[in-house]
Amino acid sequence: MQSLSTDITDSKAAKKGSSAPLKVVTHDQFCMEKVPDPCGIVIFGASGDLTHRKLLPGLYHLFKAKLLPKDFFILGFARSPLTDTTFREEILAKLKTKGETDSPVQKEFLNHIYYRSGQYNDPGAFRTLDGILKEFGEKHGTKGKLLFHIATPPDVYQDVISGLKHAEIIKRTKETDVIIEKPFGHDFDSAVQLNRSLHEALNEKQIYRIDHYLGKETVQNIMMFRFANSIFEPLWNRAHIDHIQITAAETLGVEHRAGYYEKSGNLRDMFQNHMFQLLALIAMEPPLLFDEHHYREEKVKVAKSIRPIPAGKIHDFVVRGQHGRGKWNGREVPAYRQEEGVDPKSQTETFVAMKLFIDNWRWEGVPFYLRSGKRLGHQATEIAVQFKQVPHSMFPFLHSDQFSPNVLTFRIQPDEGISLCFEAKHPGPKFCMATLGLEFNYKDVFHEPSMDAYERLLLDAMQGDPTLFVRQDMIDLSWEFVTSILKEWEKSQPAKFPNYEAGSWGPPEAHQLIEKDGRKWEIL
Ligand code: BG6
Repeated sequence: MQSLSTDITDSKAAKKGSSAPLKVVTHDQFCMEKVPDPCGIVIFGASGDLTHRKLLPGLYHLFKAKLLPKDFFILGFARSPLTDTTFREEILAKLKTKGETDSPVQKEFLNHIYYRSGQYNDPGAFRTLDGILKEFGEKHGTKGKLLFHIATPPDVYQDVISGLKHAEIIKRTKETDVIIEKPFGHDFDSAVQLNRSLHEALNEKQIYRIDHYLGKETVQNIMMFRFANSIFEPLWNRAHIDHIQITAAETLGVEHRAGYYEKSGNLRDMFQNHMFQLLALIAMEPPLLFDEHHYREEKVKVAKSIRPIPAGKIHDFVVRGQHGRGKWNGREVPAYRQEEGVDPKSQTETFVAMKLFIDNWRWEGVPFYLRSGKRLGHQATEIAVQFKQVPHSMFPFLHSDQFSPNVLTFRIQPDEGISLCFEAKHPGPKFCMATLGLEFNYKDVFHEPSMDAYERLLLDAMQGDPTLFVRQDMIDLSWEFVTSILKEWEKSQPAKFPNYEAGSWGPPEAHQLIEKDGRKWEIL
C-alpha cells in the first residue's frame, strides 16, 4: 500500500484566512492508493498519438509513484513495423518533451516495455500474440492477468476484439479486462453493434469504456462537493436554481486530426460523451453509495430523463457552427475548411450549443444550456449553476432585478477551482451594493499537481474498479439522443458555414438560443 496523501492531520496548522485546507482527511482507507496485482498491459494502437501523449507517460508516472505492481510488463502492438528499441526510444523522447530527465527509474521502466507489429485483421498475428503474452507472463511473473487497451482508430476496434476472442486470449474471467477508447461507435446502431461484439467475448464487468473527463480531478470533485456538504443539496432543484450552463470551450482547432474529426464533428466528439457526463453528474440524484453500481445507475437515470427534442423543432434547441478565419492571441488562425485534410466545402460542425430539459421532479422546467466548440475566445470548461433572483427588494432605490443572481461555478479547467458570487454591501452610502466572489483555487490550496485523468483511469482499471468508466446503457442512451439530432441535421444542410469567426464565442444563433429566454452565457 502506498500513501499519496499529504499528512496534515493537525487542523491547527490551518490558519484562518490562509489558503491552506482547514482539515485534510487522511484516514488510510480514504487517502491510500492500492497497488494493483501483477499484470501485463497490452496497448493496441501503440504507435499512435494517444499512446505517446497520454498512455505511456501516464504509466510512467504511476511507475515513478510506485503505483504499478512490481511484476508487470507493457506490450505495444500496432501495424507500424517498430522494434522494442525504437519504441523505447520514442517513449524516451516523449518523456523528455514532458520535462522528464534521464534517470535510473526511466531505464528500469523501459525494461518492462516491448513492441510487436501485426495486422489487426490477421488471425495469425493474434495467435502469435498469444504465445508472446504467455512468454512475457512467465518472464515477468504476471500470473496470466492481462489488461488490454484498445486505442486504435475506431474502424479496427471490431477486428481487435474478434482477433483476441478467436485466439482465445480474452475469456470471460476477470483475468482479461479490456479498456476501450472513445469514440465508442459513430451513432446509435454502430454503438449497439460494438457493444454486441464486446459481449460476445466478455462480461460487462470486464469492459472499461473510457471517457477521460470522468478521471479529471475537478470532475470527480463534483460528487464530493455535492454530496459531502449539507448546505448546497437542499437548494439543488427547480425551486432555487434558475438554470445551469455547461461550457467546454477550446482555443485549439482540429490540429492534425482532420481525418477523424471530419467524420465526427463536435456533437459526436464532445456531446455524446464528455458533455453528457458532466450533465449527468451535475443533475443526478445522490447515489446510495459511491460504487460502480449505484453511481452509474444514477447517471443513467438522468440520461433517461432528458426530454427528447420535438420533431421539427430542432432549430429552437440546437445550434451548430463551423469556424471561419480569425484571430487568436494576436495571431491569424485559419478557417476550419483551410486546415490540412479538411474538405474545402466541409459541412462538419466545430461548435454546438443546445438547450435541454430534464423531466423529473427535481429539474422540471429548469433549462440546461450546453455549448462546446473549437477555436473559441478562450479555453474554459466550466459548469455554472445560476440560482434564482431574489423575489423582492426591501431596499429603497434598488429594484430586485438589479441584484445579480448567485452563481456557483465549477471551473473544470484551466484555473481549476470553484467560485460563488454573492451580493454584499459596498462600503459607503447605505444602499450601495457590490457583487463579490468566494473563491477556491486548486493551485493555491493543494500545491501538488493532481493525478492526470488517464493515470487515474488506468490505475482504476488495473485495480478492477469500473466506477469511473461508462456503462453500456449510458452509451446507448446518449447515442440515442445524439443520433436523433444527427438525423434531423441530415434532412437539411446548415444555412451558412462558416458561421463564426475563430476567436469569437460561436455563431449569433448560439447567443439567441439563451438570450431569447432572457438569460446570457456566463463566459463571453
Ligand atoms: C477529446 C476530443 O475527447 O477531448 C477532442 O476528441 C477534445 O476533440 C478533447 O479536444 C478535449 O479534452 P480536454 O481534456 O482537453 O478538455
